[in-house]
Amino acid sequence: MTYPYTNEKLRIIAEQFLTRLKTCSDNKSLEALDIEFLGRHGIIAKLMEELKTLSLEEKRTLGPEINLLKKDLQASLLEKKSALTQQEAAAHAERQKLFDVTAYQPGELFGSLHPATHVVQEIEDVLMSMGFEILDGPEIETEEINFEALNIPKNHPARDMQDTFWLTLPQLLLRTHTSSVEIHAMRSRQPPFAIASAGRTYRHEATDACHDFVFMQCEGLLIDKKVSLSHLFATTKLFLQGIFKKEQIEIRIRPSYFPFVEPGIEIDMSCPFCAKGCSVCKKSNWIEICGAGMVHPHVLRAGGINPEEYSGFAFGFGLTRLIMMKYGINDIRYLHSNKLEFLKQF
Ligand code: DAH
Repeated sequence: MTYPYTNEKLRIIAEQFLTRLKTCSDNKSLEALDIEFLGRHGIIAKLMEELKTLSLEEKRTLGPEINLLKKDLQASLLEKKSALTQQEAAAHAERQKLFDVTAYQPGELFGSLHPATHVVQEIEDVLMSMGFEILDGPEIETEEINFEALNIPKNHPARDMQDTFWLTLPQLLLRTHTSSVEIHAMRSRQPPFAIASAGRTYRHEATDACHDFVFMQCEGLLIDKKVSLSHLFATTKLFLQGIFKKEQIEIRIRPSYFPFVEPGIEIDMSCPFCAKGCSVCKKSNWIEICGAGMVHPHVLRAGGINPEEYSGFAFGFGLTRLIMMKYGINDIRYLHSNKLEFLKQF
C-alpha cells in the first residue's frame, strides 16, 4: 500500500481498512468490507462526493490521493482474496487426506411388518395347520353376494346393523363382512372343503377409539356331510388355543342370531391375558370372540350346495379387535395412522 498519505483523514481510513482486512477469514467478510469501503455508497464514494465541495487547489492535491487510496484498497482486497482461496484449498486437501470411506454408516431405519400383518400371518398359519384353505375375497362386492345370498334380503333389519358404503355403480358396495367369501367359496368348489379368509371390511360408521369405518375380520367355513355344532366347538377351541398359544383356553356358547346361520351362536373365550380379571376382559374373565353357527340351508342353496346332503359351520370374528387385544392398542385409529413412532414398535 502506498503509504503514508499526506492527508491525515486518508491515512486513518487506510489504517482502519488494513486492521479490518486482517480479521477477515472468509469471502463473506471480505465482501462486506469491499461494500463498506469501495461500494457505491461506501467510504471512498463519500470522499469523492466531498471532494466536489472543495476548492480547485484542494481538489488538485486530494483527488489523485483518493484515487490512489482506492487502488490500494482494491489491490489489498484482491491479495487477501487469493490468499484466502489458497488457504481454503489447502484446508480442503488436508480434510481429503483424512477422509475415511469405511466410516460411512448406511441408514439404520429398518421397515417392519404392520401389527395386522403379524396377526393375519399367525392366524393363517394356525388355520392352515388345521387343514383350512386360505382364500382372498374381493372388497368390492355385489349386493347379492354380501346380503341376499347370505339370507339378508332387502328390508331385513340385519342390513341396518351393517351400515353400508354403496358405490355409485348400481348394486355394488364395499363388503360389510368377510362372510361374503363363503359364497365365493361355495360357488367355486365341491364339498367337502374348509376355507378361511381374513381381510378388510367396511361400515359407514362414525369413528372413535373403538370404531373405524374400515376394520378387519376373519371368516371360516367348513362344509361336509354330517357336520354338527360339536365340530364347530372343537374347531374354534383348537383354533383359539393355537393363536393364543395356550392349552388352557375354555369356550362358552351363547345363543344368538345371524341370518346366515341356524342355529346362530356367539362364542366367548376364557381370558388368555389374566387369571383373575383384567382390563381386556373387563374383570369378567370372558371375552366375546366370534359369531358362528350352522350354515343356513338358504345360504347353502345360494352357494349351489344341496342342504339335504351337506351341512356346515361358519364362524366370523373381528380381527382388528384381536390385534388391539393382543398388542394392548387402545385406539383403533393408530392402525391406519401411518405414525412411525407407532409402527416401529412391531
Ligand atoms: N358376519 C358377522 C358380522 O360381521 C359375523 C359372523 C357371525 C360370521 C356368524 C359368521 C357367523 O360366519 O356364522 O358381524
